[in-house]
Amino acid sequence: MRRLLCAVLFALSVLAAPARADDYPSRPITVIVPFAAGGPSDAMMRILGEHMKRTLGQAVLIENVTGAGGSIGVGRAVRSAPDGYTVSFGHLGTHVANGAVYKLGYDLVADLEPVVLLPSNPMIIVSKTAVPAKSLAELLAWLKSRPEPATAGTAGNGSGSHIAGLYFEQATGIKLQFVPYRGTGPALNDLVAGQIDLIVDQTSNSINQVRAGTIRAYAVTDDKRVESAPEIPTTDETGLPGFHMTLWSGLWVPKRTPRDVIAKLNAAAVAALNDPEVQKQLKNLGLQMTPPDQLTPEALGAQQRAEIGKWWPMIKAAGVSTE
Ligand code: MLT
Repeated sequence: MRRLLCAVLFALSVLAAPARADDYPSRPITVIVPFAAGGPSDAMMRILGEHMKRTLGQAVLIENVTGAGGSIGVGRAVRSAPDGYTVSFGHLGTHVANGAVYKLGYDLVADLEPVVLLPSNPMIIVSKTAVPAKSLAELLAWLKSRPEPATAGTAGNGSGSHIAGLYFEQATGIKLQFVPYRGTGPALNDLVAGQIDLIVDQTSNSINQVRAGTIRAYAVTDDKRVESAPEIPTTDETGLPGFHMTLWSGLWVPKRTPRDVIAKLNAAAVAALNDPEVQKQLKNLGLQMTPPDQLTPEALGAQQRAEIGKWWPMIKAAGVSTE
């Protein structure tokens, strides 16, 4: 009986032992993308995962765990074993804004360890083609003239598109009727189909539909045009000066993940980001590469803390509540 107990205790201690970097990874790694497949988070992670699996020598599986502005997927990652086999993909929405919108049951800073800061992209104001406005000034006039608020697709409360929509409301004094989806992939499908009026979207999500002429772009929310879509003006040029928002993304792992495991994940992501073919694909989507000196876990941690200080007051003042 005693021997059996010892064997059980030994087995439990082996299972509970943190992963060691010298044999890590010895099985597939799951990245939880907290939005729908086909959207901008999913697209970026799939491009990176294809390269990371070569460096890591293991499959990198994408699991789309959607709902509640991405907070369900992040919660799943927070509660997983701190062994480097479950990674949380997220961004300014999920890993900053959600903390001001939801009673999360986890702490975005204390319960996660940053791994790497991923590329960013400006938001883009896009509408269905049936909207009569041809410029941002005309769009603002059209929105103001309507008896009812226009419908704006989002990826749920606290998502990037929702925060961008709130910021748009604040900057223009125009009310929008937000329509939540499980990601801006499905929201974009409905925009193309004319079911909703507009999205303040990530450029990387909308850019191909803009190129195809199935939706209309008014401006990117930056002070400079996007290199791969130079025909789209900036908000500074078209009547909303200073309306800037850049959505950055990142990878995190649960707190207590060993440092050397984090270093291996970081190195694999950095190798992907330095690959010319990966860069070409990301830049074609309008994404801006992370500056080389910002590719450390510390840089992501600093970015996340700084953005919490910047965005939480605005979100709280907007009175967004999920209760
Ligand atoms: C997505 O992948 O659907 C997005 O990142 C959604 C968003 O935050 O707007």
